[in-house]
Amino acid sequence: MLLLKRQRRLRSNKWSINLFRENNISASDFILPIFLTDGKNQKQEIKSMPNVHRYSPDNLKQLIDNAIKNGIQAIILFPQTPQDKKDAVGSEALNENNLINKSIREIKKGYNKEIGIITDVALDPYTTHGHDGILKDNSVQNDETVEKLVQQSLLQVTSGADVIAPSDMMDGRIFSIRNALEKNNFKNTLILSYAAKYASGFYGPFRDGVGSTQKEGIDKSSYQLDSANSDDALRQIEGDLKDGADMIMIKPGLTYLDIISQTKDKYNVPIVAYNVSGEYSMIKNGIKNKIFNENILKEIMISFKRAGASAIVSYFAIEYIEKFLNQK
Ligand code: PBG
Repeated sequence: MLLLKRQRRLRSNKWSINLFRENNISASDFILPIFLTDGKNQKQEIKSMPNVHRYSPDNLKQLIDNAIKNGIQAIILFPQTPQDKKDAVGSEALNENNLINKSIREIKKGYNKEIGIITDVALDPYTTHGHDGILKDNSVQNDETVEKLVQQSLLQVTSGADVIAPSDMMDGRIFSIRNALEKNNFKNTLILSYAAKYASGFYGPFRDGVGSTQKEGIDKSSYQLDSANSDDALRQIEGDLKDGADMIMIKPGLTYLDIISQTKDKYNVPIVAYNVSGEYSMIKNGIKNKIFNENILKEIMISFKRAGASAIVSYFAIEYIEKFLNQK
């Protein structure tokens, strides 16, 4: 056969595959999620997330030192609120000495600008019912919730958070939080909006992590996106960008790669993919049980980059860097 173009030429050497690879992943692409718990010297297992732990604020040093050593640039924090501090309106979210605010101060004190601190804004770790907002007559109240989220954000930023990441999906929260930040002279605080956050079954293990699991399950479909929709996600993203979001989170990551790619094409803003807890546990168990070779992690992480994400939140972050990036 005489062919002018042979697509396989480029794939015929390791060096040419490496040289012309379109996407790459590096340690600085990862954001490490950290679960927090009250107490001293704690490192607790999370049943549904093998090899992921909850740490007390005084016991974070080894983990964060290791993250920094591995080239991770930012962490995102999630608190497990003691059951007796939860109530129907999530009051503990507005306690300046709550677990998250204490932890932020502790980390800031130890690391200053060495690593970015991202904090989640939503009421679900603090409410008895596990919803992200205030519940009245069985419905999540938008405007009342936003007022709380603004205060929650200001407390986190005052404690030292670098990035506020509202994951609550209330209308108008980015606008209100951005206004409050400007007015209070937090002009360079970044907002990472979980704009495209889908109502998903893949958050199950996370809820175990923060202790917000409800026996009868929890239906967040009146605020989180419907998995059948992409236009709705793009409208949400456009609105949040106009309201002052700097970066956009797409979540879950794997089942919504098309949304990452459409967002990249349409808005060209920094995108963060959240490789969520359910994806983590599913993959981790598959590897543990030798159903998959751990190399599938490479395929998974690069899929986020190929789709257009700038960064990836992943419970695999350190493991991935140690296994695949450090030994070249
Ligand atoms: C809270 C929040 C959730 C996650 C991040 N922030 C859970 C939820 O909305 O129910 C999930 C993250 C994961 O599954 O890894 N609003």
